[in-house]
Amino acid sequence: MKMNNHLTKLCLAAAAAAAVACAPAPKRAAVAVYLDPEAPIEERVEDALARMTVPEKIAIIHAQSKFSSPGVPRLGIPELWCTDGPHGIRPEVLWDEWEQAGWTNDSCVAYPALTCLAATWNPAMAALYGKSIGEEARYREKDVLLGPGVNIYRTPLNGRNFEYMGEDPYLASRMVVPYVQEVQKNGVAACVKHFALNNEETHRHTIDVDVDDRALYEIYLPAFKAAVEEGGTWTVMGSYNLYRGEYGCHNDRLLNRILKGDWAFDGAVVSDWGGVHDTDQAIRNGLDLEFGTWTDGLTMGATNAYDNYYMAKPYLRKIENGEVGTEELDDKVRRVLRLTFRTAMNQDKPFGALCSEEHYAAARRIGEEGIVLLRNEGGVLPFDLGGMKRILVVGENAVKMMTVGGGSSSLKVQRETSPLDGIRARVGDRAEVVWARGYVGDVGGEYNGVKSGQDLRDDRSAGALIAEAVEEARKADAVVFVGGLNKSDHQDCEGVDRFSLGLPYGQDAVIEALAAVNPRLVVALVSGNAVSMPWVDEVPAIVQAWYLGSEAGNALAAVLFGDANPSGKLPFTFPVRIEDNGAHATDPVFPHDGKTCYKDGIFVGYRWTEKEGIEPLFPFGHGLSYTTFAYGPVEADRASTDERGTVNVSVEVTNTGDRAGAEVVQLYIADKESSLPRPVKELKGFEKVWLEAGQSKVVTFPVGVEALRYYDDTKGEWVAEKGVFEALVGASSADIKGSAVFELK
Ligand code: BGC
Repeated sequence: MKMNNHLTKLCLAAAAAAAVACAPAPKRAAVAVYLDPEAPIEERVEDALARMTVPEKIAIIHAQSKFSSPGVPRLGIPELWCTDGPHGIRPEVLWDEWEQAGWTNDSCVAYPALTCLAATWNPAMAALYGKSIGEEARYREKDVLLGPGVNIYRTPLNGRNFEYMGEDPYLASRMVVPYVQEVQKNGVAACVKHFALNNEETHRHTIDVDVDDRALYEIYLPAFKAAVEEGGTWTVMGSYNLYRGEYGCHNDRLLNRILKGDWAFDGAVVSDWGGVHDTDQAIRNGLDLEFGTWTDGLTMGATNAYDNYYMAKPYLRKIENGEVGTEELDDKVRRVLRLTFRTAMNQDKPFGALCSEEHYAAARRIGEEGIVLLRNEGGVLPFDLGGMKRILVVGENAVKMMTVGGGSSSLKVQRETSPLDGIRARVGDRAEVVWARGYVGDVGGEYNGVKSGQDLRDDRSAGALIAEAVEEARKADAVVFVGGLNKSDHQDCEGVDRFSLGLPYGQDAVIEALAAVNPRLVVALVSGNAVSMPWVDEVPAIVQAWYLGSEAGNALAAVLFGDANPSGKLPFTFPVRIEDNGAHATDPVFPHDGKTCYKDGIFVGYRWTEKEGIEPLFPFGHGLSYTTFAYGPVEADRASTDERGTVNVSVEVTNTGDRAGAEVVQLYIADKESSLPRPVKELKGFEKVWLEAGQSKVVTFPVGVEALRYYDDTKGEWVAEKGVFEALVGASSADIKGSAVFELK
């Protein structure tokens, strides 16, 4: 019976197949255009838009949970999922709470903080960074990575500088573009933040910045512009602060006129979390997607009430009662749909990868390239293990996990090698490595429920800790002090600024005591900000070690022991005193609240110190190597050019030492005659060249008119004034090796 049934089925199937084969081919059911991956994206957008009801449109322009916005379930359009950003993929939190969701598969690789990436001065490292973090975001099924941040480093007291790319608009521009491009190759949108003028934290929700147009266009906007026009970023995050009386998240000038108008941004403007304050302004002034912390769109309020968002029911009501039309709504929806097709509904995106060995290798490489050797007197570094029996490591930052804390960039890492462990692993049994605490800083280690698991409590007095370190230092062949700042409040941390430029927790006294007893002292500073160094002349070697993420200890050890030849350069100026910084010199008030005018104008960072003739502690672009480089004469291939021409400025650089290394050759342009005040010089080109010992290479910088222009705020346009310009080439802003003069006719 069974067999018979089976045979019958087979016969019926064969008959049906034969009938199909003979019959004319049935028409394929038409796929809706918006679902057709082959259709042009704009046609898909229009098709989806035409099918949506007004409530569905309202639904997709605001959040449904802490990090997601709804799609259109009826049409099969999926949700959008965001994640911080920018140094690794944030662990999962609960739907409607900041608490951990408690997943066990959301640990990530932590990459070096963006100050370190900027310090590589290597766009190839920015590409590697973007590719690696983009793959992790993709693997975790995220659609929007909330980073990178490119707010300009205006004051060393900004608690959030570690998340940004330094003080120079040209450097930040060159570094942000490859990061964005490579992230987005994963079908994950970059979200360039915080647009714009979010240069301090303490009163970030209420500070109302005014700045002249020259500074806005020359200093604060270029990196965002590059991310949009060259990087093609799919989202931009509005900032919390106000600019000329309007919040960054709904600012007509910044969002409508500059971003979407002048730069033709076709992506979505995402609010910072809780950065929306007004429905009418949100409708009119360029916001597309509202996210929040608590569900009234502000920073507190009822939970599970996303309907209360400014761009939720209040917007719908305004449409229903005829107060506003749907033109703005359709524009927002188009942008969100475009974002969805580029990310969540992108059928070509790769699968990504999480915590791969390639990602650890990328984190380590970027870290090694970004570490800056600030000072190295008497060849203390690199350490030669041959002559050493005992190495002393001092300092809390030698053992403290730095990937937990600091605000929204806090991570849950799969692994993190501390400086002490990195040094121990590198030294092996060739010498004894001893650790002394030196000082007690921040003994906490928790952010939103992610715990470092370290117990760093120590009740001994400062005097006792110094005495212990000094006694050990006397017996050691070399001492590495690892200190700096950390990710707790008023250090390098979102939401609050630093109190002063000085090192906290009495570290100066520890360093001075160590310097007095051991001449082979290296100070390694873990921070994302400049600090003052009253002991600078007493310490032979100083290393700026940033926040290096998962591979922190290994990258630092590679530089200390010479496996990696340092090639990082400072992306911002280290002033001797806070008053040497332009923002503070022109306005002693800090932090600001309410109306604030950037009186330093375009004179940010080295533009200020050079104008004032102030010698910095370490200048912008500074960084040493274990080898030496010689620069040949700087030559321009022509004596004059016009608006359409290019002058090629060349220099031959030779590695004159005995080990391979990389030099960042920097080009600065000085405008010799100008009707408006200009900086002494400005960075307009750089190239990192890798040279074997004895090898030479010619580096050529094409200088076009855009490198000569300033923003004329009386005319509202970029102007290149005829006259004489000087192209200065050097190893830092303060170490110019040669120059060539040419004329713009
Ligand atoms: C921060 C953003 C971050 C967002 C989401 C905000 O407080 O300013 O940079 O992406 O929270 O965590």
